[in-house]
Amino acid sequence: MTQSLTIARPDDWHLHLRDGAMLAAVLPETARDFGRAIIMPNLVPPVVTGAQAAAYRERILAALPEGADFAPLMTLYLTEDTDPDDVAAAHASGLVKAVKLYPAGATTNSASGVSNFENVRAVLERMAEIGLPLCTHGEVTDHDIDIFDREAVFIDRVLDPIRRATPGLRVVMEHITTANAADYVRSQDANLGATITTHHLIINRNHILVGGIKPHYYCLPVAKREEHRVALRAAATSGDARFFLGTDSAPHLDGDKLAPCGCAGCFTATNTMPLLAHVFEEDGALDKLEGFASLNGPAFYRLPVNAAKLTLQKSEAATQFPEKIDTENGPVTVFDPGYPIHWSVAR
Ligand code: DOR
Ligand code: ZN
Repeated sequence: MTQSLTIARPDDWHLHLRDGAMLAAVLPETARDFGRAIIMPNLVPPVVTGAQAAAYRERILAALPEGADFAPLMTLYLTEDTDPDDVAAAHASGLVKAVKLYPAGATTNSASGVSNFENVRAVLERMAEIGLPLCTHGEVTDHDIDIFDREAVFIDRVLDPIRRATPGLRVVMEHITTANAADYVRSQDANLGATITTHHLIINRNHILVGGIKPHYYCLPVAKREEHRVALRAAATSGDARFFLGTDSAPHLDGDKLAPCGCAGCFTATNTMPLLAHVFEEDGALDKLEGFASLNGPAFYRLPVNAAKLTLQKSEAATQFPEKIDTENGPVTVFDPGYPIHWSVAR
């Protein structure tokens, strides 16, 4: 028996494509199933100016497979030296769809991020004026705050004060991992949205640590207790338009993950849509998948829904996903949920 579900072609509202050989290897994985993606700017060096974003966009377009139906939506990396006029010009030209806030030191390549939020006040005020969303990596970096509490503390100490001080600023809490974040989003107005990753709907912190450490499940924000995973599932499958898909698919070479100081990131670009179909079906919410993956994100970003469609099909046989994607410099491991998936994308 084959069951199928056709939805508007989805978008990924939080994606890492990197550059060079890695970009060439991972871009086709996203372009196969997604119409657009918000491209994270945490390259080395980061994508800070409009000119850098324009050049990065060209490199992405040049790496696209022939005939691909995919548009990269560019972001700027917020630093304490970011020029509000440059941000406004990049937005006005249609090039840039969001600005990304990394608290300095929070995650991969975040050293140029923000330490003193007073120093970005003028940029945030300009963004509020022109309606350009701020995407936040919502974790504090204070050494006395436990890594499992960093998201919840960020809401109280950073996010809520910024939003109060900058009325009208549109904010996306990226890759939320806690019930606290989902509750905060629900308690606020439509200027606040949140992305949820595929992997945070599937793993909790036990999956990372019980029975041996699993580097391929390590990402930031780190997965939390089971009750938080359940809360994320409830948010994603609720139909509430403030929650939408941002995979945070973050490729690292196996050599960099399987190391004494392993990199954070789960690579889910290859199998996200089948995994989500499994998750939504498990929760009796297949009818909410299109909202989460294809409708709510465009509504928040004030963009049209993709005209193209994507069909998911369920078969008796488990779907065989590649274990790894090869790059010129070595393999990248594809996220493995740890159980069989019977959904696939019809080609
Ligand atoms: O797990 C993560 N990987 N979280 C991030 O915030 C950054 C990302 C990356 O760039 O590798
Ligand atoms: Zn990310």
